[in-house]
Amino acid sequence: MTKRILSGIVAVAAICSCCGNQVEADFGKVIPLPERIDTLGDGHFILKNGATVSYDGSDSLMTRNAQFLKDYFKSDLGMNLRLEPDLGSGAAVQLAVDSLASGDEGYSLTVGDEGIVLSGGSPKGVFYGIQTLRKAVPAQDAGCSRVSFPLVKVSAEPRFAYRGMHMDVVRHWFPLSHVKRYIDLMAFHGMNTLHWHLTDDQGWRIEIRKYPELAEKGSYRPGTMIGKDFSRFDDVPVSGYFTQDEIREVVKYAADRYITVIPEIDLPGHMMAALHCYPELGCTGGPYEVSRIWGVMPDILCAGNDETFEFLEGVFDEVCGLFPSEYIHIGGDEAPRVRWEACPKCQARIKAEGLRDDAKSSAEAKLQSYFMTRVENFLQTKGRKVIGWDEILEGGVSQSATIMSWRGTEGGLEASRLGHDVIMVPLQYMYFDYYQSDDFDNEPLAMDGYVPIDKVYSFDPVLPEMTEEEADHILGVQANLWAEYIATPEHAFYMALPRMAALSEVQWLQPELKDYGSFSDRLQSFVKFYDRDGYNYARQHLGR
Ligand code: ACM
Ligand code: ZN
Repeated sequence: MTKRILSGIVAVAAICSCCGNQVEADFGKVIPLPERIDTLGDGHFILKNGATVSYDGSDSLMTRNAQFLKDYFKSDLGMNLRLEPDLGSGAAVQLAVDSLASGDEGYSLTVGDEGIVLSGGSPKGVFYGIQTLRKAVPAQDAGCSRVSFPLVKVSAEPRFAYRGMHMDVVRHWFPLSHVKRYIDLMAFHGMNTLHWHLTDDQGWRIEIRKYPELAEKGSYRPGTMIGKDFSRFDDVPVSGYFTQDEIREVVKYAADRYITVIPEIDLPGHMMAALHCYPELGCTGGPYEVSRIWGVMPDILCAGNDETFEFLEGVFDEVCGLFPSEYIHIGGDEAPRVRWEACPKCQARIKAEGLRDDAKSSAEAKLQSYFMTRVENFLQTKGRKVIGWDEILEGGVSQSATIMSWRGTEGGLEASRLGHDVIMVPLQYMYFDYYQSDDFDNEPLAMDGYVPIDKVYSFDPVLPEMTEEEADHILGVQANLWAEYIATPEHAFYMALPRMAALSEVQWLQPELKDYGSFSDRLQSFVKFYDRDGYNYARQHLGR
């Protein structure tokens, strides 16, 4: 009884100690750091509970932005802001679009004596300004009713148009709620593209109505190799897929936060789950199992069988219906050609297409190029562009394909020289499934490789040897979070954070503004947001 009364008193004291508190906002603590922070005077503007927010009420995107602002201040700080469409300069916070002042994704925030004016190059820019406004307010343990903002003008515009994070829901299954939390985190870090890896050897995780077995049978594996031992298996089934309604829900949830979801259907390799359902699409005819081991499988889609392309067109018909993204990722990585070398149908295709070995590429490498181009041509009829992993350069590929450079930066350099657009994801810097501490024994199991946060921070997607024209082909940068050894949301966030914070500065800041010392100071308080919002994160580089 005494204990209950005491804990009640402590709880009341905790709330009261904060509600009278005034919290000091500081734009200099934000990640990614805004490009410019100019002081306008010594004073402050106090944003109080019940303060008004004005916006163009006839614009649905700005209405949504205003609602986000209100919701963030409620959930972050317990403050109630009042939405007053079209109130104008009488409001404490005015949200506006000013397309002449900055690019589409840029924003400026002016804090004056009378209030805050946040203007963006588009509603998207306003959204990023809202993120900066909320991140300037330190994380609170309990609610507060007043925030003091210094009189400043803050402005920013991202360096790269493509600011991605990748998510693998195949090697382990993650629920819809996790996908949404991940998207929230991306928005918080100013990212705009979710690369969603939906199919692989170990499972098929998207419902395709024309081929129902893909989800029904292909999403299930009876067990998984234990740790890094390829000869021992557990018998814990891994299964799960996203229905088309769930996919639409994710796409909308992301779009509301100005994040485009790019689906990846990895082909012609990494297809064991599909081959398990439709063995006639493989060179040997199977049978094939949904894989219980990680790595690269020799069995891939048969390139000589027209049914393979019919199948893929059926799949992509539905994928395009679900994902409005300009780009579709068609994989192309880690596709051994041993089966093609021995397959009469593949060899007949090589002959019919006149593909020959030459000094640079084998006939089978050119067959992969034929394969990728045939899929690309189909997607072009639907108005889409393709992204492929850097292996697709090997047999030659159409210039319209965007290359995702993962085995290093060399693929990206070569691609930019050939006139391809490029997204940089080099594993030495951007594989968040690698260890982040060199004390491997005391870390959860991870892919072999070491990518500490300062290494992430140090990456420049534009290489010093690139010409200006080549540099213009670098659309941006993302980090990959493969899930072979990641089975829970808690572990996924541990691997992603706080490396995502470093990535956000690589994506947003011009190189001359990057400063690891400053970043690492800001990170000390920034991680309190993760604590507040219940995200697990690694602490090795926080020095505490
Ligand atoms: C990859 O990591 N296989 C693209
Ligand atoms: Zn074949």
